[in-house]
Amino acid sequence: MAVEFNHTIVDCTDKEASARFVADILGLGEPSSYGPFAVVQLGNGASLDFADAHGRPHTQHYAFLVTEAEFDQIHARIVERDLPYWADPFHRRGREINTNDGGRGLYWNDLDDHNLEILTVPYGGWPSTRE
Ligand SMILES: [Fe+2]
Repeated sequence: MAVEFNHTIVDCTDKEASARFVADILGLGEPSSYGPFAVVQLGNGASLDFADAHGRPHTQHYAFLVTEAEFDQIHARIVERDLPYWADPFHRRGREINTNDGGRGLYWNDLDDHNLEILTVPYGGWPSTRE
């Protein structure tokens, strides 16, 4: 049985602002509304459902697998907005990009300091196509 990740709730201070921020930086479509959520639809069918009715958000980590071309575009948007970014999850290597697993990756914060990540190769590398 295949189990696919479908959605999660992202607690935030302002759901419209947070959803738009993430969608804009990632180059995704306009957020939609569903019940109390501002929804950002991801390419693999999963969604981030932003909610601002749960009090002060606890910061979480969200990682997005992107192509090399998307990485360039997202990095350019981060630089254009003069947002801080780091090569590592602890935010020690500022304005650097990592090359973990033969790809590229970086971290930046959303409006509530959720630790966002883009990477072009999954942790540990691409799974082998051989059985
Ligand atoms: Fe991560």
